[in-house]
Amino acid sequence: LPTLPTKPGWVCTTLYKYQGFWHNSRQLQGVISCQKHFQSQHTDILLVTTPKSGTTWLKSILFTLINRTNLPPTQKNHPLLSTNPHILVPFLELKLYTEDSNPDLSSFTSPRLFSTHLPYTSLPKSVQDSGCKIVYLCRNPKDTFVSLWAFANKLRLEQMGSNSLEQVFEKFCEGVSLYGPFWDHVLSYWHMSVKNPEKICFLTYEEMKEEPEVHLRKLAKFLGCPFSKKEDGENMVEGILDICSFDNLSNLKVNKEGKLPSGENNSAFFRKGEVGDWKNHMTMEMVERLEKICEEKLDGSGLKF
Ligand code: A3P
Repeated sequence: LPTLPTKPGWVCTTLYKYQGFWHNSRQLQGVISCQKHFQSQHTDILLVTTPKSGTTWLKSILFTLINRTNLPPTQKNHPLLSTNPHILVPFLELKLYTEDSNPDLSSFTSPRLFSTHLPYTSLPKSVQDSGCKIVYLCRNPKDTFVSLWAFANKLRLEQMGSNSLEQVFEKFCEGVSLYGPFWDHVLSYWHMSVKNPEKICFLTYEEMKEEPEVHLRKLAKFLGCPFSKKEDGENMVEGILDICSFDNLSNLKVNKEGKLPSGENNSAFFRKGEVGDWKNHMTMEMVERLEKICEEKLDGSGLKF
């Protein structure tokens, strides 16, 4: 690893600042390898998310959406029913390029669907230059923070004991969280999506929750595979949303049991799946402080949570 500024983090003991964002040592190896070796194809689809913004959900939706002709969501042996979404749609820097610095991706058929948490400025150059499409998902910072805190504690509990909400909050506000600062991540994609809406589809967890059908149709159009009249007659949109729903996915045996090869329990990716859980955890002072930071950081951008 290059010599980089470090800070004590809260998922692993140390976070490294690389190209303006915080990473742990495991993911940083993957980031550097993926930047060096990943060659994007113009038909690729890249799902980019901030951690805990609903990555697992969007992985499921995109996988089902682009494979719907060969694998209708109502099919009894649909892959989502027996395979965790993180296996079906692998992370570049957290999976493919950590397991091998230059993996053979020839088994992925077009359109290849990958995922990453990388900020725009750290994407492999070929992603920025090629015609590949980017679907970006983020979530309001208060729910993102609570979900991140709960997830980190689930992962840490056995080894190190839990972190208090206050400890994690302080770091989050300083911008020190995995792939943080949160607002710099979000803004990097927001600005690019305004400039180039053909390349980047910018979505939030809240709007997906509020109007899932509208946004699924928007995604299908963006990816060049809009729903046909025949599919509307077959209730394809509902079928995709049903199989990918929190209730369905979180109750599947495959997601209740077992672990990912990287060690996380499959169940750790499903907690409440709601908008506004921050109200049950954050104090008024915390809310005011985070809202003030976001207001300042997002000022003039046209983006609001
Ligand atoms: P909560 O912790 O607020 O419940 P990620 O997949 O990026 O790690 O994000 C995890 C968050 O998405 C968790 O939020 C999780 O419960 C929620 N989630 C997982 N699957 C979902 C689904 N199918 N629909 C809606 N939310 C989902």
